[in-house]
Amino acid sequence: MAKRKAAGNGHFPHLLSPGRIGSMTLRNRILMCPMGDNLANEDGTMSERQIAYFEARARGGVGLILVGSVPVMWPAGAYNPRHPGISDDRFIPSLAELARRVHAHDGRVALQLVHGGKSSMQDIAAKRPLFLPSIPTEQSAPDPLGAMNTGEELAAMSEPFIACGGQVNPHAMTREEIADVVAAFADAADRAKRAGIDGVEVHGAHGYLLDNFLSPGTNHRTDEYGGSLENRARFLLEVLRAIRARVGPGYPMWARINGTEFFMNGNTVEDAEQVAAWMEAAGADAVHVSAHGDGGRLILWTETVPQVPGHLVQYAAAVKRHVKIPVITVGRIDPEMAEDIIARGDADFVAMGRKLIADPELPNKLAEGRREDVRPCIYQYRCIEQIFLRRPLRCSSNPTTAYEHEFELKPAATPRKVLVAGGGPAGMEAARTAALRGHKVTLCEESSQLGGTTLFSSLVNEANGRLVEYFEAQLQKLPIEVRLNQSVTPDLVRELRPDVVVVACGAHHDTSGLRGTERPNVFNGHDLRALITGQDPALAAAKLSLPQRALLQVGRLVGAAGSMDRLRDLTQRWMPLGKRVAIVGGGLVGVELGEFLVNRGRQVAILEQSAGLGKEMAMPRRWRAVHVLREHGAEILTEVRVQEITDVGVVYVDKDNKQQTVAADSVILAYGMVENRALADALRGLGPEVHVIGDAHGVGYIEGAVRDGATIGMAI
Ligand SMILES: Cc1cc2nc3c(=O)[nH]c(=O)nc-3n(C[C@H](O)[C@H](O)[C@H](O)COP(=O)(O)O)c2cc1C
Repeated sequence: MAKRKAAGNGHFPHLLSPGRIGSMTLRNRILMCPMGDNLANEDGTMSERQIAYFEARARGGVGLILVGSVPVMWPAGAYNPRHPGISDDRFIPSLAELARRVHAHDGRVALQLVHGGKSSMQDIAAKRPLFLPSIPTEQSAPDPLGAMNTGEELAAMSEPFIACGGQVNPHAMTREEIADVVAAFADAADRAKRAGIDGVEVHGAHGYLLDNFLSPGTNHRTDEYGGSLENRARFLLEVLRAIRARVGPGYPMWARINGTEFFMNGNTVEDAEQVAAWMEAAGADAVHVSAHGDGGRLILWTETVPQVPGHLVQYAAAVKRHVKIPVITVGRIDPEMAEDIIARGDADFVAMGRKLIADPELPNKLAEGRREDVRPCIYQYRCIEQIFLRRPLRCSSNPTTAYEHEFELKPAATPRKVLVAGGGPAGMEAARTAALRGHKVTLCEESSQLGGTTLFSSLVNEANGRLVEYFEAQLQKLPIEVRLNQSVTPDLVRELRPDVVVVACGAHHDTSGLRGTERPNVFNGHDLRALITGQDPALAAAKLSLPQRALLQVGRLVGAAGSMDRLRDLTQRWMPLGKRVAIVGGGLVGVELGEFLVNRGRQVAILEQSAGLGKEMAMPRRWRAVHVLREHGAEILTEVRVQEITDVGVVYVDKDNKQQTVAADSVILAYGMVENRALADALRGLGPEVHVIGDAHGVGYIEGAVRDGATIGMAI
């Protein structure tokens, strides 16, 4: 495909060059994905919180903001209770306010118009008919995800079913009802236009109503709306034509479709190409190519919000060969990849979702040549979990997301001397925020590298390493004194005389109740980290054989120990662990580690006291990780009490009270993280105000750590 001529300012020249969708000119090729956020008011008007969230992204330079899932028949056809409505003129004022606030920053904003069809949870809750193309012929299989959820999660997701007393009312739509929905889409587009919104996207993907008709998996009608692709696409195309007729030729209007459906009987990319060509003929100004997975095939579920970077681009590129209108691609696309996509001509625009949830200023930072200042998404799937749980959007990486309405980084009234103990995410975020507010900050880290446990966890979860790099860059740029290999002690506090000490030294590991933990084949998180990064030669002498130590030495000489990326490669070939690894503790750490080890050919057994694995993980992440474990034949032992580690493995008592042993060459202790107040206690009475944050305060992993760091940085 011919390369386009580069425009822009030299950094990401293609991505940052202006583009057009219909009559609308966008300042760059970055779209904010449509993402339901559950932030609207209960009456369906946009809340100040929601508008501030979008305004921050417009201020941050996004070319076009797409407001996700705006139900055209609100409250009918809504997935969540707090989607903004557009089914009546009373919704126009708050939408107009949104448009005004986005335009004030030279941004553009479009609404994604939707009817939820089989996913209309609000219709289920209210016992309204659930609009479907046809009544399903087969009972759907029991949800395999259910078994992996906690009771609290199940309760939150079941709210609509509880509200209707289990009386779901599936309803095969009549032709009249189809015509009503078509009219509702046209009315909604007209209201968007009258509100000053710049365009509308019709949601024809992800298992919502128009996709229920499009997909052969859900449409079993025998009339002109079912059967052939042409018939199945009829509803979507009628909607597009009706909107075009209502809003006139100049108003930007397009649809999002699945470039493929990752399940049996789904539409293929060839179907998507054909539908896109029909959309163009029906007056669409663009086509947005997403994809849809299926809860029945766990690993693929996350295709809608994908795990693999850029793998949906192929579908956009295929569609692009069949249309002249611009094509929008999506799916975990980095700026660098986005630049290449636009340069190659595989798509005209790139929609970014989670990256813009994590950093509203991503486009401006790219334009200013500050790539290193982009706060990365760490792909914990917390944002999407919140939507499943019918709660407001939240971000693991950025605690201010969806709190833009109340967050203001005000200079401190009196600049103070702040000493931060610990260079993990809690300490680094506290230092960053405090320094931005004008405090004089010193950060001490007892090891030779910043990042704490998060750095080590980046071996397993690469994205965590990007967060550490982000913080390192911020600490370098701000007037913060960073002291590595420096523990905070009462003597140091006496010497430095800070006004405030922020203790962010991580959790304490307490596995004292278990027999056999002193054996050479038993490792806790600290041991593994010290061994792999080569920070504790004495421990290596105690735990590793001579050849293993020699190999580590080689790794160190080739620089692997300094780079998590290289270490990750090295672990493909070597780790100080035998073939059979038992992990004691099936929380977030144990599950992530298990996933990492099965991918490196280890036979893994996970022993967990409670009934489920990975409770602290956001559900989609947990579903995927547990699925990977199962696929690799990992032994998952839940509701067990571990008693002892012996020569042959781990002795435990199972749920039937029987003593068992799981054989293991190596045992990893991934439990026993508890708050760590020792340093804070030692510093009390020395003068400075002392705050304990992050895992030292209460185990909250990266998300809790960053949140604590920001909160304390704002408070002191
Ligand atoms: C919190 C959240 C809510 C979403 N809601 C919608 C939605 O309302 N409509 C839609 O078409 N896609 C929705 N998506 C999917 C995104 O639009 C996008 O396709 C997906 O996140 C992949 O892009 P990303 O990898 O850049 O995040 C949602 C995704 C997230 C993370």
